[in-house]
Amino acid sequence: MGSKIAVIGTGYVGLTTGTCFAHLGHDVICADIDEAKVERLREGELPIVENGLGELLREGLRSKRLQFVVGSEEAVADAEFVYLCVPTPQGLDGSADLSYIEAAAMQIAPFLTPGTVVVNKSTVPVGSTRFVEQALGRSDVHVVSNPEFLREGSAVHDFLNPDRVVIGSDDQSAAIRVASLYLGIPAPFMVTNPASAETIKYASNAFLATKLSFVNAIAAVCEAVGADVNDVVLGMGYDKRIGHEFLRPGPGWGGSCFPKDSKALIHIAEEAGYAFDLLEGVITVNLEQFDRVTDKIVRMAGGSVEGATIAVWGLTFKANTDDLRDSPALEIVKRLLAKGARVQAYDPTVTEPPRGVEAIEVCGDAYAACEGATVLAVLTEWDEFKWLDLDKTAGLMTGLGVVDCRNLLDRSALVQRGFDYEGIGRA
Ligand code: UGA
Repeated sequence: MGSKIAVIGTGYVGLTTGTCFAHLGHDVICADIDEAKVERLREGELPIVENGLGELLREGLRSKRLQFVVGSEEAVADAEFVYLCVPTPQGLDGSADLSYIEAAAMQIAPFLTPGTVVVNKSTVPVGSTRFVEQALGRSDVHVVSNPEFLREGSAVHDFLNPDRVVIGSDDQSAAIRVASLYLGIPAPFMVTNPASAETIKYASNAFLATKLSFVNAIAAVCEAVGADVNDVVLGMGYDKRIGHEFLRPGPGWGGSCFPKDSKALIHIAEEAGYAFDLLEGVITVNLEQFDRVTDKIVRMAGGSVEGATIAVWGLTFKANTDDLRDSPALEIVKRLLAKGARVQAYDPTVTEPPRGVEAIEVCGDAYAACEGATVLAVLTEWDEFKWLDLDKTAGLMTGLGVVDCRNLLDRSALVQRGFDYEGIGRA
């Protein structure tokens, strides 16, 4: 028998959590304050690009195990579990802004049935389980931390095949009840105290960001010493302690999580009296990477992009998502615009110039972006870019420079056609 679950917030975490729990056989009500969004979801329309999520959404609606409502009261009244999946944006001082969590907790408090387990799924600062307990002001409900480790683009797969399920609670019975929701999911389960669960989430994201800044720094060394970073990471990865995953160099890391979570962890550490210089360095290397990549494009354009047309393939922060939040591609495009470039961009999920880069021209396909361009910059690793007609691309451009910031394209095929190719970390 499934449990009754309410999910507050239908962003990518809430929506994935709700639809996947419905798929596992639970009765789920998802609540959001955005009426138009709720209406679309009821029609089975997904507001985001996310692999496999649309199918599960429609499956849940058909089976009636998944419902959408405006406002949280109705959703929580009958719920045994309430998942808080509201945003925790970055506050002005780098700390996570808890006002949405606080507002959600205060709103639901009067409507909760005694014994309900309220679960923090959003990435929240260490101490937030206590904070939610206080905001709720209800001694007859439990608050548990159950952080998410979903990657955009493969969130459904990650939910149903997690590397681990982490539950933070001082109350064993509440922890076991939360664990039982994941019945049938093949993963290690770990119960710890709330502060440890919250720290696991931040430490994991900060470690992954560290790995990426490290590999981008190694890529810079490779360029200077004539090594090829692709071979270097392959060789490194055979060491089981290092592994092959998450070692692709790129234009820098971004997205809705790493930049915000790394700053939040620095802030959390600082408040606790620890100066997290290592993580500061990780962020600095990332900002430098945006500049390094921009410089590469400028060099490829002959030393200046003033008045030059630059073709850009990819604007999202990574492939298989339409998410532009803190996208490294946009950081680089902003820098190019500031240097006087004309930017023609194509991204499979973008139809209008994103905020902050209104001056760019968004093109309908990858070839159109190349028309009259002196340099092509590949900024996001969309698979379709690998299979484009290089002769046609060459025919459209006025110069033949390619800066491949994802090491995605076939270098020898490009060189054969007369392109001047530069990747990341490949001399
Ligand atoms: C990240 C984490 O991977 C998830 O485990 C976590 O749950 C999530 O944040 C979150 O906190 O919600 P996500 O933001 O979807 O997931 O993106 P990633 O796939 O981790 O990529 C982050 C950035 O690193 C992107 O800009 C991506 O292009 C870049 N990246 C990733 C590389 O440059 N190289 C790689 O090898 C991998």
